[in-house]
Amino acid sequence: MSSSPPDVPTVRGGPEDILTLDDRLAALRREFAFPEARVRTMIAAFHDEMARGLRGDPSSLKMLPAFIDVPTGRESGTFLALDLGGTNFRVLRVELPGGGGEPLIASERFRLETEHISLHADALFGAVARFIRHFLESHVGSGAYPMGFTFSFPIRQERIDRGELIHWNKGWSVDGVVGRDVVELLNKAMAREGLAGVRVVSLDNDTTGTLMARAYRDPACDVGCIIGTGTNACYREALERIAKPIGPYGRTHMLINMESGAFDKALPRTAYDARLDAESENPGGQWEEKMVSGKYLGEVARLVVAAMCERDGLFRGDLPALFAARESFGTELVSEVEADVSGDAEGVLDLLARSGAAHARPEDAAALRQVCRLVSERSARIAAAVLAAVVTWVDPEVERPHTIAVDGSLYEKHPDYAEEMHRTFDELFGGRAGRVRTELTTDGSGLGAAVIAAVASSGASSGASPAVSPPRSRRRRG
Ligand code: GLC
Repeated sequence: MSSSPPDVPTVRGGPEDILTLDDRLAALRREFAFPEARVRTMIAAFHDEMARGLRGDPSSLKMLPAFIDVPTGRESGTFLALDLGGTNFRVLRVELPGGGGEPLIASERFRLETEHISLHADALFGAVARFIRHFLESHVGSGAYPMGFTFSFPIRQERIDRGELIHWNKGWSVDGVVGRDVVELLNKAMAREGLAGVRVVSLDNDTTGTLMARAYRDPACDVGCIIGTGTNACYREALERIAKPIGPYGRTHMLINMESGAFDKALPRTAYDARLDAESENPGGQWEEKMVSGKYLGEVARLVVAAMCERDGLFRGDLPALFAARESFGTELVSEVEADVSGDAEGVLDLLARSGAAHARPEDAAALRQVCRLVSERSARIAAAVLAAVVTWVDPEVERPHTIAVDGSLYEKHPDYAEEMHRTFDELFGGRAGRVRTELTTDGSGLGAAVIAAVASSGASSGASPAVSPPRSRRRRG
């Protein structure tokens, strides 16, 4: 997966490494910097990897054909949608009115427990099928339903309604799924639950769902992106540029799920990144994701804080419980810390006190805020570099407007993330940066999956039979 050696330097230093907090922060600023020159080097490397992936040559970018093209905005019908691959699992009923009208959405969210994401395929898909049955009973009623299935992991597809899991990531590890068609696993589990009327007509990734949800309303949308627990991007590609063999497909363009979280070139890793990687469930994998996404940012910050505490006297050398265990400092706290813009980091001090670190001093709080800032700023600049690479791949001189549909809690909740990404676009594109818009699009796995199911059912992309509209029943806006 990764071509780089697993170099795992220790983050502990000897006495000679002791610095004042200010000097340590200055050193960290250099280590975590991702200046324009590096962004440009990364974009060039990213283009190389895109080209290799599209040719079918070895590449850290899988460039997975998604067997779907953008919608017309006039799609109609009623669809079920399933969203699997984040912290929550969701089932939705989506009614597309046609003619560009507002869709009607009913949805329910179920929390997945650790056992569901770490046991066997039967336990996972059995739980999913039970939730679907419960949802149908309370929101839909009996009938025949086409379903769009969003499965947010790398899947190899040869058609729109099938796909094999290539490998797990984001901490998921369920036996019996890798190499199997996830649609078949779901269909079998639904059959065991007696859900004979539900038919999966399309399989998609959360990035493609997000792109489609935005493209349904905005024809300039040609890129989709997730910056949440994991990170990834997809875009609309011309068929003639996809040099590797793909299955039968009747259109001129197709979305490509890049699996950009696995990109591993021109990304300068610190000792903290290397340690996080070595301790992760997938060492060597998902390089870019581990420097960018919400599953990891808090942990990178925690490793820096722990080392500063041990070496440089942060928290007077007494590590608060909040930073004591792997993943104990979540990325939502990175956002919370940075939301405090007070001159003396009073809010951060307060947060520390509330979480049991009564011994924290104002300088500890200020240093923690700077560490969080360094880690999230690097993340936003790398994420922006990925998107800038995609935009310039499809439009090298940025001559047209591009809407990038973005979903994910880090992008949505972090106080300065989107601004930092746009500052990076300004550096790269100057006066043309205004042509690149990012739009928060939170309904990708629901509306997007339904739009994909509608396009797939129309026969345009897959040759599947037309959608059946179930009887009208209770509806509400999701
Ligand atoms: C991981 C998955 C990818 C997904 C992303 C965001 O990177 O491999 O498929 O899109 O997380 O959920």
